[in-house]
Amino acid sequence: MYKAPRGTADILPQDQPYWRHIERTAGVLCQLYGYERINTPVFEETGLFVRSVGPGSDIVEKEMYTFQDLGGGSLTLRPEGTAPVCRAYLEHGLHNRPQPVRLYYLAAIFRYERPQAGRYRQHQQFGFEAIGDGHPVLDAEVISMAWQLYRRLGLKGLRLHLNSIGCKLCRPGFQQRLRDHFSGNVERLCPDCRSRLARNALRLLDCKQPSCQALAEAAPRSLEHVCPQCALHFEQLQKYLALLDLPYELDHRLVRGLDYYTRTVFEIQPEVEGAQNTIGGGGRYDDLIEELGGRPTPAVGFATGIERIVLNLRHQQVSVPELPHPRVWLAHQVEAAREEALKLAQRLRLAGIAAIEAPADKSLKAQLRQASAMGAEQVVILGEAELASGTVTLRDMAKGEQRSITQEELVTLLSPFAIS
Ligand code: HAM
Repeated sequence: MYKAPRGTADILPQDQPYWRHIERTAGVLCQLYGYERINTPVFEETGLFVRSVGPGSDIVEKEMYTFQDLGGGSLTLRPEGTAPVCRAYLEHGLHNRPQPVRLYYLAAIFRYERPQAGRYRQHQQFGFEAIGDGHPVLDAEVISMAWQLYRRLGLKGLRLHLNSIGCKLCRPGFQQRLRDHFSGNVERLCPDCRSRLARNALRLLDCKQPSCQALAEAAPRSLEHVCPQCALHFEQLQKYLALLDLPYELDHRLVRGLDYYTRTVFEIQPEVEGAQNTIGGGGRYDDLIEELGGRPTPAVGFATGIERIVLNLRHQQVSVPELPHPRVWLAHQVEAAREEALKLAQRLRLAGIAAIEAPADKSLKAQLRQASAMGAEQVVILGEAELASGTVTLRDMAKGEQRSITQEELVTLLSPFAIS
């Protein structure tokens, strides 16, 4: 028996109400904030991700699904959504549109990670990006939009963590301070941090190993070392968040795992930290478009994993709307009635009324039993008597009552339930 590959999951019909609810809520949110949908390919040239996410990042070093296609090119299944959106922005001249360009996506993401609760090798992200404007009011927009998503979905007890990691002018000085701090204690660092120290000392701040954590806690803080422009940007952002009544916690150890971030970084953590302590994250990436060959173009964005939202909704026992199911089943008794049922089902669907045909070759009793098990509210029964009189028998399954009506009357009766 084949199984789904390790770290992947089937989203079965019983799980779909969560997914549809989240996707619908995300769509409404994007409409409210004026973000337009973009779809990019599932795979891209490998170089796009190496360049943007960073050659020393965990994603590029050990998590990418990279393969050579028959043409010999190196391709990679999308391990994140921001770089493809920036690539599309450049490729299609979106910089010629009024800025910022506001885009969103719902996309499958692939990372070869160690699977555990809330961590998959294929997951689905909802993300949005505002490209072409460096003002902190855009950071506030993106953060508040992320916050609103979870609020609208009914999640409680979330915490917003916020930090600024500076820009290409002030970050090198800060990195040096970090190197100085950590290199005095190399023997207390985990092997990963030792190898990261020379490449990207920033990443040592969010190491989860207890010995590294103690050192990270005592490390220099970026907010105390960013340049005056970055400090002002962050100050304005905090003012806007206060205006929007958005509670946040400054977190000097928040740095994020992708190398393209500049200035603002933020993460949203769920009420109860399970295996995963982040439900969504993002930040500013003012140098990425230029790094990919465009003009200097500031940008800011966010992404959240749908699986993690579902996990938290279930955990907090938040109910989601049921998906509509067909109200009407059509049952038949003889072959001629089955033909009539086939035509009637088509007629109902043309009128927008969802209808399911009961299984052929089963007794009427068995058909009714199945309709009942599937939650049918009404069953239309067609037999010889109905064919002769040009009527149908309509059975209300909850009440167990039946009545005889014409097909026209049936369509009229059910038309309030038509799907538009
Ligand atoms: P990220 O923090 O790597 O950021 O991923 C965003 C979200 O995707 C995470 O907060 C988490 O909810 C979900 N996620 C990540 N990895 C997994 C996994 N293995 N299994 C399940 N869910 C996962 C980014 O990807 C950036 N592109 C976000 C961004 C957009 N920054 C600016 N714009």
